[in-house]
Amino acid sequence: MNSLEDVKNLLEWYIDAGVSETCGDVCFQAFQPQVQVPLRQATTDLSQNKIASTQNARELCAKAESLDELKKLVSGFDGCALRLTAKSTVFGAGNPKASLMIIGEAPGADEDRMGLPFVGRSGRLLEKMLSSIGLKREDVYITNVLPWRPPGNRTPTDAEVAICLPFLKRQIEIIRPKLLLLLGGSAANALLDNSDSISRLRGHFFDYQMSLKSSIPALASFHPAYLLRNSAQKAKAWTDFLRILKKLKEN
Ligand code: URA
Repeated sequence: MNSLEDVKNLLEWYIDAGVSETCGDVCFQAFQPQVQVPLRQATTDLSQNKIASTQNARELCAKAESLDELKKLVSGFDGCALRLTAKSTVFGAGNPKASLMIIGEAPGADEDRMGLPFVGRSGRLLEKMLSSIGLKREDVYITNVLPWRPPGNRTPTDAEVAICLPFLKRQIEIIRPKLLLLLGGSAANALLDNSDSISRLRGHFFDYQMSLKSSIPALASFHPAYLLRNSAQKAKAWTDFLRILKKLKEN
C-alpha cells in the first residue's frame, strides 16, 4: 500500500465490512469457528459446557480470599468464550472498603482497551452523577457482571451471565458493601433473579441475598449508556441517586 488513496480505500472497505473500531495490530477472525462440528452436537456441547464452566467458576471462586486472588483467578479462567475476543480482563476497581458497590453490564471498547471499568463516556456520566451526591470514583467500588467485552457491545447472553456470575458474587462477598447500585437490566436481572424490565425495577430497593443469613439492599437504576441516548430519563436517575444518598446516611 503506498498512497493515501490506498489507505482511504482500505478504511472504506473495512467500514463497509462492518468494522467499527480497532483494538490491536494483529488481525484475527473472532467469529470463525475453530472446529467444525454438526450444529446439534455443537448446541449440546455448548449447554454442557455452560454447566461445567459455571460449576468450575463457582469452585474457583470459593478458593479466593481476597480481591487480588479473585482477580488472578478470573484472568486465568478459560470457561467463557468472550475472553477470546476481548483484549483485557476488566476486573472491578475502586475502594475495596466502599459502602457503595456499583455494578454495570460489561466493559465497552474504552474499558477493554484500558482494562478498567467505566472509563469511557458512560463512566464520565457516572462520575458526574456520583459527584451530584458528593461522591467520587475513589469512594466507591465499580465492577461489571461480565469481565470481558462482548464483541460489538452486544447484550450478554444468559449463558455468559450464568458463567461469570460466581465471580461477581464472590466480589460482593469479599467487599461486603452496605449498598448495591445495579445499573441497567443485565445487572438488575442477574443479581435480583428477576426478569422484569429495568423501567419497572428502577427506583426500588430490593434485597440481594448474599447468603442464607445475610442480604444487602440493592437499588436498580438506568444504565448511564441508556441515559446518554435518552436524556429525558436523567431526572429519574437523579432521584435514584438521591435515594442512594439517603440510604447511605441511614446506615
Ligand atoms: N458499560 C458498562 O456496563 N460497564 C462498563 O464498564 C462500561 C460501560
